[in-house]
Amino acid sequence: MRTQVGIVGAGPAGLMLAHLLHLDGVESVVLEARSREHVEQRVRAGVLEQGTVELLERAGVGERMRQQGMVHHGIELRFGRRRHRVPLTDLTGRSITIYGQQEVVKDLIRARLEAGGQVLFEVDDVRPEALDSDRPLVRYRLGGREQELACDVVAGCDGFHGVCRDAVPAAARGVYEREYPYAWLGVLAAVAPSSSEIVYASSDRGFALHSMRSPQLTRLYLQVDPEEPIERWPDERIWEELQARLGTDDGWTLAEGEILEKGVTGMRSFVVEPMRFGRLLLAGDAAHIVPPTGAKGMNLAVADVRLLAEALAAWYGGGGTGLLDAWSATCLRRVWRAQDFSTWMTTLLHRSPADDGFQLRLQRARLEYVTGSEAAARSLAENYVGLERV
Ligand code: FAD
Ligand code: PHB
Repeated sequence: MRTQVGIVGAGPAGLMLAHLLHLDGVESVVLEARSREHVEQRVRAGVLEQGTVELLERAGVGERMRQQGMVHHGIELRFGRRRHRVPLTDLTGRSITIYGQQEVVKDLIRARLEAGGQVLFEVDDVRPEALDSDRPLVRYRLGGREQELACDVVAGCDGFHGVCRDAVPAAARGVYEREYPYAWLGVLAAVAPSSSEIVYASSDRGFALHSMRSPQLTRLYLQVDPEEPIERWPDERIWEELQARLGTDDGWTLAEGEILEKGVTGMRSFVVEPMRFGRLLLAGDAAHIVPPTGAKGMNLAVADVRLLAEALAAWYGGGGTGLLDAWSATCLRRVWRAQDFSTWMTTLLHRSPADDGFQLRLQRARLEYVTGSEAAARSLAENYVGLERV
């Protein structure tokens, strides 16, 4: 089989790239290791920057998001058992939208299939090859049969644990990485949200986050020890800890409900540079991971492929390789801005196990500054809603 752009991975990056290329008249084939049901059910991100929302709308895949997405004009920072609102829209003129990543994925898969696009699920043993030639290809197995996809370029959109990044010779990639001494336990609960806005809470017992997916579904996270197995977190302990960390002195209450889903995710910062090797372009989590406290991962993935689709369309349209040659550096400027913001939010709000009290006091000073000074609040807000041009 032959196509113009071979795309590995049907997450937000791969699917959005395929859709944007299609709008520009460029053909692609998406190869995905998991089943359609699996990728459509996987609970992950929830916060879309306004720029991401506008792109989805412009690309004609915003209808359900418009109906079901929840537009938010502020977030809450909670510390010392008190609540402090950061009025995002008053400070920046922009808003965020809460709409589950798996809903974005469903909308994109439907759009691709309706337009006759090829998304192949449950492919095995994907191997990108000849990436430093101008005839790259991707070998894979489908239904037990060996297959080959010849293409002009390969887009590695296969997430952090994918295979594309490892196809780059070690000498040709720089890796910049930090691990954090904590993880997030995330739960989805069948109960109406207890707050109309997202709550980031810093407490002596660690960080907690209250978010939502719909008027009937609450999404909650707890900072946990990455070594502690999830079996040590029965539902009663999760609610007890959430109540303690989110609790306030003004009578606010957290409503409890049935826990439908729970999982632990490690936290890391990771960037590979450059994001291109010959005819392989790494986009989204395949190239970079940020800790989730800044809500940036999916937005970065979408920003990467928006620029990549533009660069490829220009190249196919006879406009030369200028945009493609600049693509990695252009993306990395936004990636490092988001990396800085995400690590800043993470260290602002999490309790470090090794802290002797110094870090806690710095955090308190920073939280008071960010909620007491309009200049400091605006800096947080403009990063949170997403900088238009980085
Ligand atoms: P992925 O979504 O990981 O997609 C990669 C795809 O490639 C997958 O479908 C995978 O099955 C497939 N694949 C992997 N290996 C292969 C292979 N060998 N062959 C073929 N296919 C393969 N981001 C935000 O913007 N806002 C948030 O609020 C937010 N919250 C988060 C909360 C949590 C708990 C977590 C874990 C993440 C969060 N993120 C958030 C990050 C966001 O989910 C990711 O950044 C996003 O999924 C990246 O999209 P992607 O398409 O690059 O990668
Ligand atoms: C979520 O709703 O899943 C969510 C919200 C904010 C974050 C991370 C995740 O920072």
